[in-house]
Amino acid sequence: MRIGILTGGGDCPGLNAVIRAVTKSLIRQCGAEVIGIEDGFLGLIERRVRPLGWDDVSSILATGGTILGTSNTASPFAWRGTDVSAEVVAYQHALGLDALVVIGGDGTMTMAERLGTAGGVPIVGVPKTIDNDIAGCERSFGFDTAVATVTDALERVQTTGQSHGRVMVVETMGRYAGWIALEAGLAGAADVILLPEISYDVAHIAEVCRARSARRRATLVCIAEGAKPVGGTMTVERTVDGSPDPIRLGGVAHALRAQLQPLLASEVRATVLGHVQRGGAPTPFDRVLATQYGNEAARLLRRGAFGRMVTLRGGCLSSVALGEVAGQNRQVPADHALLTCAREIGVCLGDAG
Ligand code: F6P
Repeated sequence: MRIGILTGGGDCPGLNAVIRAVTKSLIRQCGAEVIGIEDGFLGLIERRVRPLGWDDVSSILATGGTILGTSNTASPFAWRGTDVSAEVVAYQHALGLDALVVIGGDGTMTMAERLGTAGGVPIVGVPKTIDNDIAGCERSFGFDTAVATVTDALERVQTTGQSHGRVMVVETMGRYAGWIALEAGLAGAADVILLPEISYDVAHIAEVCRARSARRRATLVCIAEGAKPVGGTMTVERTVDGSPDPIRLGGVAHALRAQLQPLLASEVRATVLGHVQRGGAPTPFDRVLATQYGNEAARLLRRGAFGRMVTLRGGCLSSVALGEVAGQNRQVPADHALLTCAREIGVCLGDAG
């Protein structure tokens, strides 16, 4: 067997752990040859690949980023305004690949699915993203690490906020889903947690801050980058040409600061955590999950179960058809147990609920 492997889209902690597990499993279980494709689909467009042997993937389990590099702007279907998918498909066959392991988020999975149906080699997908928003998968690796990083930041911001009696607004990543803000907000004892799934009422948040201030308490607000006020829109930082999802969110913490400040006597400050959430070593949980995902991907390849993405359902390893995941986004459902729990312990979710 000759198997290609690529990492696509934004990076996240644990990518190297997957590359390591796929490569070691394939070499050990069936003596397969593994070919690393550089910079995601860009490597297939620009024909940049390299062999991956046992030693190439040793000692990378805990290393952040991806040894293969990645790209979130290179689509074979719209590369510098041209559809080069036929050339990419021909190159896959010229490399003699029997299948391709694609480690990515929904944009990457959608592209992989399209390439497969355009005559490309069969695909096995592995879900990655700190956002934890891939359909059909209850936990993507990288999420646990991001939650740990945000939790640490919230705790640090809380102590300085308390010293000064301030309202501290901390913005997380997560795109259109609030998973990072919700879990880290709970773990970091945020007083207010704002998600894309629940539009926030500024006047209500101001009331919460004033009541806390009257008790000489600072207020810690954890806001997801995709959150928006009632009747308002998400805060777009910029758009990126050629990206499967060209919208880049960012800056809602500053917007909320500006909305809240006129309503409060306490000073309001904003912190945007940004890419610190995507970098560094994966947590032990993410190392284990990524290793299991990589090993499971190798198993699917050996069984010839193509066109599928490894997944976790009910806490068990499983797989789902790529067609069922492509183009989807998994948001926090309104009846999620963590939302109920947050409300019942008095956390404000931005609405009067
Ligand atoms: O999907 C992962 C993610 O980190 C999102 O949380 C964030 O909105 C986006 O990627 C940022 O992308 P970029 O690194 O291209 O700015």
